[in-house]
Amino acid sequence: MPIGDALRDLERYESYLKIKPLEWDPESKKFKWLDTRLIPFEEVYRETRDYRRVARAIKDMEIRGAPAIGVSAAFGMALAAHYSKARNIDALLSELKKAKEILASTRPTAFNLFWALDRVWRRVEEAAEKGDPDEVRVSVEEEALRIYVEDIRNNVEMGRIGSRLVEDGATILTHCNTGALATAGFGTALGVVRYAFYEGKEVKVITTETRPLLQGARLNVWELRKEGIPVTLITDGMVGIVLKRGLADLVLVGADRIILTGHTANKIGTYMVALAAKDNRKPFYVVAPTSTIQRTWDPGSIVIEERDPDEVRRVMGKYLITIPDVDVYNPSFDVTPPALITGIITERGVARPPYEKTLPALLGSS
Ligand code: MRU
Repeated sequence: MPIGDALRDLERYESYLKIKPLEWDPESKKFKWLDTRLIPFEEVYRETRDYRRVARAIKDMEIRGAPAIGVSAAFGMALAAHYSKARNIDALLSELKKAKEILASTRPTAFNLFWALDRVWRRVEEAAEKGDPDEVRVSVEEEALRIYVEDIRNNVEMGRIGSRLVEDGATILTHCNTGALATAGFGTALGVVRYAFYEGKEVKVITTETRPLLQGARLNVWELRKEGIPVTLITDGMVGIVLKRGLADLVLVGADRIILTGHTANKIGTYMVALAAKDNRKPFYVVAPTSTIQRTWDPGSIVIEERDPDEVRRVMGKYLITIPDVDVYNPSFDVTPPALITGIITERGVARPPYEKTLPALLGSS
Protein backbone atom coordinates (compact mmCIF):
# COMPACT_ATOMS: atom_id res chain seq x y z
CA MET A 1 0.00 0.00 0.00
CA PRO A 2 1.66 3.28 -1.08
CA ILE A 3 2.02 6.02 1.54
CA GLY A 4 -0.75 8.14 -0.03
CA ASP A 5 -3.23 5.22 0.21
CA ALA A 6 -2.38 4.58 3.86
CA LEU A 7 -2.90 8.27 4.66
CA ARG A 8 -6.23 8.33 2.82
CA ASP A 9 -7.29 5.24 4.77
CA LEU A 10 -6.37 7.09 7.95
CA GLU A 11 -8.73 9.94 7.05
CA ARG A 12 -11.65 7.47 7.20
CA TYR A 13 -10.92 6.90 10.89
CA GLU A 14 -10.15 10.50 11.80
CA SER A 15 -13.49 10.94 13.61
CA TYR A 16 -12.58 8.09 15.99
CA LEU A 17 -9.28 9.68 16.98
CA LYS A 18 -10.18 12.03 19.83
CA ILE A 19 -6.70 11.43 21.22
CA LYS A 20 -3.68 10.94 18.95
CA PRO A 21 -0.96 9.30 21.03
CA LEU A 22 1.33 8.52 18.06
CA GLU A 23 1.96 10.49 14.86
CA TRP A 24 4.17 10.13 11.82
CA ASP A 25 5.00 13.14 9.70
CA PRO A 26 5.55 11.88 6.14
CA GLU A 27 6.95 15.26 5.01
CA SER A 28 9.66 15.76 7.60
CA LYS A 29 9.99 12.01 8.43
CA LYS A 30 9.57 12.63 12.14
CA PHE A 31 7.88 10.46 14.77
CA LYS A 32 5.90 12.15 17.52
CA TRP A 33 4.28 10.71 20.66
CA LEU A 34 2.41 11.78 23.76
CA ASP A 35 4.55 11.13 26.85
CA THR A 36 2.18 8.97 28.93
CA ARG A 37 4.39 9.22 32.03
CA LEU A 38 3.23 12.80 32.55
CA ILE A 39 -0.51 12.25 32.13
CA PRO A 40 -2.87 13.45 33.65
CA PHE A 41 -0.80 16.38 34.89
CA GLU A 42 0.82 17.49 31.64
CA GLU A 43 0.15 16.78 27.96
CA VAL A 44 3.60 16.84 26.39
CA TYR A 45 4.40 15.57 22.89
CA ARG A 46 7.95 14.43 22.18
CA GLU A 47 9.44 13.95 18.72
CA THR A 48 12.51 12.41 17.15
CA ARG A 49 14.29 11.37 13.99
CA ASP A 50 16.39 8.84 15.92
CA TYR A 51 15.20 5.24 16.29
CA ARG A 52 17.27 4.84 19.47
CA ARG A 53 15.18 7.57 21.08
CA VAL A 54 12.04 5.59 20.13
CA ALA A 55 13.57 2.51 21.81
CA ARG A 56 14.23 4.57 24.95
CA ALA A 57 10.68 5.95 24.93
CA ILE A 58 9.32 2.38 24.86
CA LYS A 59 11.69 1.08 27.53
CA ASP A 60 11.00 4.01 29.87
CA MET A 61 7.26 3.75 29.19
CA GLU A 62 6.74 7.18 27.66
CA ILE A 63 4.99 4.93 25.13
CA ARG A 64 3.31 1.82 26.57
CA GLY A 65 0.53 -0.67 25.86
CA ALA A 66 1.26 -3.60 23.54
CA PRO A 67 -0.26 -2.23 20.29
CA ALA A 68 1.29 1.25 20.78
CA ILE A 69 4.67 -0.39 21.40
CA GLY A 70 4.40 -2.41 18.17
CA VAL A 71 3.37 0.57 16.04
CA SER A 72 6.13 2.76 17.51
CA ALA A 73 8.79 0.11 16.90
CA ALA A 74 7.67 -0.04 13.24
CA PHE A 75 8.11 3.74 12.97
CA GLY A 76 11.49 3.30 14.71
CA MET A 77 12.49 1.05 11.81
CA ALA A 78 11.23 3.68 9.35
CA LEU A 79 13.50 6.26 11.04
CA ALA A 80 16.44 3.85 11.01
CA ALA A 81 15.96 3.26 7.28
CA HIS A 82 15.38 6.87 6.36
CA TYR A 83 18.27 8.40 8.29
CA SER A 84 20.80 5.67 7.53
CA LYS A 85 23.73 6.96 5.51
CA ALA A 86 24.25 3.52 3.92
CA ARG A 87 24.82 3.72 0.17
CA ASN A 88 24.52 0.05 -0.62
CA ILE A 89 22.04 -2.65 0.30
CA ASP A 90 24.36 -4.71 2.50
CA ALA A 91 25.31 -1.75 4.66
CA LEU A 92 21.65 -0.72 5.01
CA LEU A 93 20.57 -4.25 5.92
CA SER A 94 23.18 -4.53 8.63
CA GLU A 95 22.12 -1.17 10.12
CA LEU A 96 18.46 -2.18 10.03
CA LYS A 97 19.24 -5.51 11.66
CA LYS A 98 20.92 -3.65 14.52
CA ALA A 99 17.94 -1.28 14.82
CA LYS A 100 15.57 -4.24 14.94
CA GLU A 101 17.60 -5.83 17.75
CA ILE A 102 17.68 -2.61 19.77
CA LEU A 103 13.93 -2.04 19.38
CA ALA A 104 13.17 -5.70 20.19
CA SER A 105 15.15 -5.50 23.44
CA THR A 106 12.86 -2.86 25.00
CA ARG A 107 9.83 -4.74 26.45
CA PRO A 108 9.84 -8.56 26.40
CA THR A 109 6.17 -9.46 27.02
CA ALA A 110 4.27 -7.32 24.48
CA PHE A 111 3.91 -9.68 21.52
CA ASN A 112 2.84 -6.85 19.17
CA LEU A 113 6.42 -5.56 19.37
CA PHE A 114 7.90 -8.71 17.81
CA TRP A 115 4.96 -9.09 15.42
CA ALA A 116 5.45 -5.56 14.06
CA LEU A 117 9.24 -5.87 13.77
CA ASP A 118 8.93 -9.21 11.93
CA ARG A 119 6.35 -7.75 9.59
CA VAL A 120 8.57 -4.77 8.76
CA TRP A 121 11.52 -7.11 8.34
CA ARG A 122 9.68 -9.20 5.74
CA ARG A 123 9.14 -5.99 3.73
CA VAL A 124 12.83 -5.08 4.13
CA GLU A 125 13.88 -8.45 2.70
CA GLU A 126 11.40 -8.26 -0.19
CA ALA A 127 12.48 -4.74 -1.13
CA ALA A 128 16.18 -5.56 -0.71
CA GLU A 129 15.95 -8.05 -3.57
CA LYS A 130 15.73 -5.13 -5.97
CA GLY A 131 19.14 -3.99 -4.73
CA ASP A 132 18.16 -0.33 -4.27
CA PRO A 133 18.48 1.14 -0.72
CA ASP A 134 15.86 3.81 -1.50
CA GLU A 135 13.35 1.09 -2.38
CA VAL A 136 13.90 -0.36 1.13
CA ARG A 137 13.50 3.08 2.75
CA VAL A 138 10.14 3.67 1.07
CA SER A 139 8.90 0.12 1.78
CA VAL A 140 9.68 0.32 5.51
CA GLU A 141 7.85 3.64 5.85
CA GLU A 142 4.85 2.26 3.95
CA GLU A 143 4.72 -0.84 6.12
CA ALA A 144 4.96 1.17 9.36
CA LEU A 145 2.12 3.44 8.21
CA ARG A 146 0.08 0.42 7.25
CA ILE A 147 0.58 -1.17 10.70
CA TYR A 148 -0.46 2.15 12.28
CA VAL A 149 -3.64 2.55 10.23
CA GLU A 150 -4.55 -1.13 10.63
CA ASP A 151 -4.26 -0.84 14.39
CA ILE A 152 -6.79 2.00 14.43
CA ARG A 153 -9.10 0.13 12.05
CA ASN A 154 -8.85 -3.06 14.16
CA ASN A 155 -9.59 -1.13 17.35
CA VAL A 156 -12.76 0.36 15.86
CA GLU A 157 -13.79 -3.06 14.59
CA MET A 158 -13.23 -4.66 18.02
CA GLY A 159 -15.27 -1.82 19.47
CA ARG A 160 -18.13 -2.60 17.10
CA ILE A 161 -17.99 -6.36 17.79
CA GLY A 162 -17.43 -6.02 21.53
CA SER A 163 -20.16 -3.44 22.01
CA ARG A 164 -22.76 -6.13 21.21
CA LEU A 165 -21.77 -7.80 24.49
CA VAL A 166 -22.31 -4.61 26.49
CA GLU A 167 -25.88 -3.87 27.51
CA ASP A 168 -27.30 -0.39 27.83
CA GLY A 169 -26.73 0.70 31.43
CA ALA A 170 -23.81 -1.68 32.01
CA THR A 171 -20.98 -0.99 34.41
CA ILE A 172 -17.63 -2.29 33.19
CA LEU A 173 -14.73 -3.12 35.45
CA THR A 174 -11.30 -2.72 33.85
CA HIS A 175 -7.65 -3.03 34.80
CA CYS A 176 -4.69 -1.11 33.33
CA ASN A 177 -5.04 1.29 30.42
CA THR A 178 -6.19 -0.17 27.11
CA GLY A 179 -7.49 3.01 25.52
CA ALA A 180 -6.19 5.42 22.90
CA LEU A 181 -3.02 5.83 24.97
CA ALA A 182 -2.17 2.12 24.67
CA THR A 183 -2.72 1.86 20.91
CA ALA A 184 -2.44 3.90 17.72
CA GLY A 185 -5.73 5.46 18.88
CA PHE A 186 -9.23 4.48 20.11
CA GLY A 187 -8.25 1.41 22.19
CA THR A 188 -9.01 -2.27 22.78
CA ALA A 189 -11.00 -2.91 26.00
CA LEU A 190 -11.60 0.83 26.45
CA GLY A 191 -12.30 0.95 22.71
CA VAL A 192 -15.29 -1.32 23.34
CA VAL A 193 -16.46 1.02 26.10
CA ARG A 194 -15.94 4.00 23.76
CA TYR A 195 -17.87 2.38 20.93
CA ALA A 196 -20.79 1.44 23.21
CA PHE A 197 -20.84 5.04 24.49
CA TYR A 198 -20.82 6.45 20.93
CA GLU A 199 -23.77 4.15 20.14
CA GLY A 200 -25.67 5.95 22.85
CA LYS A 201 -25.49 3.28 25.56
CA GLU A 202 -25.29 4.52 29.12
CA VAL A 203 -22.09 2.85 30.19
CA LYS A 204 -20.02 3.41 33.31
CA VAL A 205 -16.50 2.31 34.10
CA ILE A 206 -14.89 1.18 37.31
CA THR A 207 -11.10 1.21 36.93
CA THR A 208 -8.47 -0.16 39.23
CA GLU A 209 -5.62 2.26 39.94
CA THR A 210 -3.23 -0.44 38.57
CA ARG A 211 -0.21 -0.46 40.84
CA PRO A 212 2.67 0.15 40.57
CA LEU A 213 2.60 2.61 37.62
CA LEU A 214 -1.03 3.69 37.99
CA GLN A 215 -2.15 3.31 34.38
CA GLY A 216 -5.76 3.13 35.63
CA ALA A 217 -5.64 6.09 38.00
CA ARG A 218 -3.69 8.33 35.63
CA LEU A 219 -4.53 7.26 32.08
CA ASN A 220 -8.01 5.71 32.23
CA VAL A 221 -9.41 8.52 34.34
CA TRP A 222 -7.88 11.13 31.99
CA GLU A 223 -9.15 9.43 28.81
CA LEU A 224 -12.64 8.70 30.09
CA ARG A 225 -13.12 12.15 31.61
CA LYS A 226 -12.09 13.71 28.29
CA GLU A 227 -14.96 11.82 26.62
CA GLY A 228 -17.49 12.36 29.39
CA ILE A 229 -17.75 8.63 30.20
CA PRO A 230 -18.49 8.19 33.93
CA VAL A 231 -15.57 6.58 35.76
CA THR A 232 -15.03 5.47 39.36
CA LEU A 233 -11.54 4.78 40.67
CA ILE A 234 -10.78 1.89 43.04
CA THR A 235 -7.54 0.45 44.39
CA ASP A 236 -6.52 -2.94 43.00
CA GLY A 237 -7.47 -4.71 46.23
CA MET A 238 -11.10 -3.55 45.96
CA VAL A 239 -11.96 -5.68 42.91
CA GLY A 240 -13.29 -8.57 45.00
CA ILE A 241 -15.78 -6.51 46.97
CA VAL A 242 -16.91 -4.60 43.86
CA LEU A 243 -17.76 -7.84 42.06
CA LYS A 244 -19.23 -9.54 45.15
CA ARG A 245 -21.56 -6.58 45.67
CA GLY A 246 -22.64 -6.65 42.01
CA LEU A 247 -21.33 -3.13 41.37
CA ALA A 248 -19.96 -4.19 37.95
CA ASP A 249 -21.69 -6.30 35.31
CA LEU A 250 -18.69 -7.49 33.34
CA VAL A 251 -14.92 -7.21 33.11
CA LEU A 252 -13.07 -6.03 29.99
CA VAL A 253 -9.26 -6.12 29.88
CA GLY A 254 -6.57 -6.02 27.20
CA ALA A 255 -3.65 -8.35 26.55
CA ASP A 256 0.07 -8.17 25.95
CA ARG A 257 0.32 -11.68 24.61
CA ILE A 258 -2.23 -14.42 23.95
CA ILE A 259 -1.20 -17.92 22.88
CA LEU A 260 -3.23 -20.56 21.03
CA THR A 261 -4.35 -22.26 24.27
CA GLY A 262 -6.00 -18.98 25.33
CA HIS A 263 -3.48 -18.24 28.10
CA THR A 264 -3.33 -14.46 28.26
CA ALA A 265 -0.53 -12.29 29.63
CA ASN A 266 -1.69 -8.88 30.77
CA LYS A 267 -0.86 -6.25 33.39
CA ILE A 268 0.03 -7.66 36.78
CA GLY A 269 -3.15 -8.21 38.77
CA THR A 270 -5.30 -9.30 35.81
CA TYR A 271 -5.20 -12.91 36.99
CA MET A 272 -6.64 -11.90 40.39
CA VAL A 273 -9.37 -9.88 38.67
CA ALA A 274 -10.24 -12.97 36.56
CA LEU A 275 -10.40 -15.18 39.66
CA ALA A 276 -12.73 -12.74 41.38
CA ALA A 277 -14.90 -12.52 38.23
CA LYS A 278 -15.19 -16.32 38.05
CA ASP A 279 -16.09 -16.61 41.74
CA ASN A 280 -18.83 -14.04 41.28
CA ARG A 281 -20.09 -15.37 37.91
CA LYS A 282 -19.30 -12.17 36.02
CA PRO A 283 -18.21 -12.39 32.37
CA PHE A 284 -14.49 -11.77 31.91
CA TYR A 285 -13.56 -10.73 28.35
CA VAL A 286 -10.13 -10.09 26.88
CA VAL A 287 -10.09 -7.56 24.02
CA ALA A 288 -7.07 -7.67 21.71
CA PRO A 289 -6.20 -7.50 18.01
CA THR A 290 -4.96 -10.71 16.37
CA SER A 291 -1.49 -9.08 16.27
CA THR A 292 -1.32 -9.88 20.02
CA ILE A 293 -1.76 -13.62 19.39
CA GLN A 294 1.39 -15.70 19.22
CA ARG A 295 1.19 -19.00 17.35
CA THR A 296 2.57 -21.12 20.12
CA TRP A 297 1.08 -23.69 22.52
CA ASP A 298 3.39 -23.41 25.50
CA PRO A 299 2.31 -21.08 28.32
CA GLY A 300 5.75 -21.61 29.88
CA SER A 301 7.29 -19.78 26.94
CA ILE A 302 5.60 -16.47 27.82
CA VAL A 303 8.33 -14.13 29.04
CA ILE A 304 7.25 -12.03 32.01
CA GLU A 305 9.02 -8.70 32.24
CA GLU A 306 10.45 -7.79 35.64
CA ARG A 307 10.95 -4.09 36.20
CA ASP A 308 12.91 -1.78 38.48
CA PRO A 309 12.19 -2.43 42.20
CA ASP A 310 11.93 1.32 42.75
CA GLU A 311 8.63 1.30 40.85
CA VAL A 312 7.21 -0.52 43.91
CA ARG A 313 9.17 1.32 46.59
CA ARG A 314 8.10 4.71 45.26
CA VAL A 315 4.96 6.26 43.83
CA MET A 316 5.36 8.16 40.54
CA GLY A 317 9.11 7.60 40.77
CA LYS A 318 9.25 10.11 43.63
CA TYR A 319 7.52 9.48 46.91
CA LEU A 320 9.19 6.75 48.92
CA ILE A 321 6.52 4.59 50.60
CA THR A 322 8.71 2.08 52.40
CA ILE A 323 12.17 1.46 53.76
CA PRO A 324 14.52 2.22 50.82
CA ASP A 325 16.40 -1.09 50.76
CA VAL A 326 13.45 -3.48 51.22
CA ASP A 327 13.49 -6.50 48.88
CA VAL A 328 10.97 -6.12 46.09
CA TYR A 329 9.39 -8.49 43.54
CA ASN A 330 8.11 -6.55 40.53
CA PRO A 331 6.75 -8.73 37.70
CA SER A 332 4.96 -6.43 35.27
CA PHE A 333 2.51 -9.03 33.92
CA ASP A 334 0.74 -12.23 34.93
CA VAL A 335 -0.92 -14.97 32.91
CA THR A 336 -4.65 -15.64 33.13
CA PRO A 337 -5.52 -19.26 32.28
CA PRO A 338 -8.19 -19.93 29.63
CA ALA A 339 -10.62 -21.48 32.14
CA LEU A 340 -11.17 -18.00 33.60
CA ILE A 341 -11.80 -16.24 30.26
CA THR A 342 -15.37 -15.98 28.93
CA GLY A 343 -14.29 -14.84 25.47
CA ILE A 344 -11.51 -13.16 23.49
CA ILE A 345 -12.77 -10.26 21.37
CA THR A 346 -10.66 -9.62 18.26
CA GLU A 347 -11.19 -7.65 15.04
CA ARG A 348 -12.10 -10.95 13.38
CA GLY A 349 -14.77 -11.95 15.88
CA VAL A 350 -15.12 -13.39 19.38
CA ALA A 351 -13.27 -16.60 20.23
CA ARG A 352 -14.85 -18.72 22.96
CA PRO A 353 -13.62 -21.87 24.71
CA PRO A 354 -12.16 -24.27 23.70
CA TYR A 355 -9.57 -21.70 22.60
CA GLU A 356 -7.17 -24.33 21.27
CA LYS A 357 -9.79 -24.85 18.54
CA THR A 358 -11.37 -21.41 18.15
CA LEU A 359 -8.20 -19.28 18.15
CA PRO A 360 -6.43 -21.19 15.33
CA ALA A 361 -9.74 -21.14 13.39
CA LEU A 362 -9.98 -17.37 13.87
CA LEU A 363 -6.41 -16.85 12.68
CA GLY A 364 -6.83 -19.17 9.68
CA SER A 365 -3.74 -19.52 7.56
CA SER A 366 -2.87 -15.79 7.61
O1 MRU B 1 3.15 -2.04 31.18
P1 MRU B 1 2.13 -1.53 30.22
O2 MRU B 1 1.46 -0.26 30.66
O3 MRU B 1 2.70 -1.44 28.81
O4 MRU B 1 1.02 -2.66 30.20
C1 MRU B 1 -0.08 -2.52 29.37
C2 MRU B 1 -1.11 -3.57 29.53
O5 MRU B 1 -0.97 -4.49 30.30
C3 MRU B 1 -2.29 -3.48 28.63
O6 MRU B 1 -3.41 -4.03 29.24
C4 MRU B 1 -2.01 -4.25 27.33
O7 MRU B 1 -0.79 -3.83 26.76
C5 MRU B 1 -3.09 -4.09 26.34
S1 MRU B 1 -3.13 -2.44 25.74
C6 MRU B 1 -4.32 -2.29 24.56
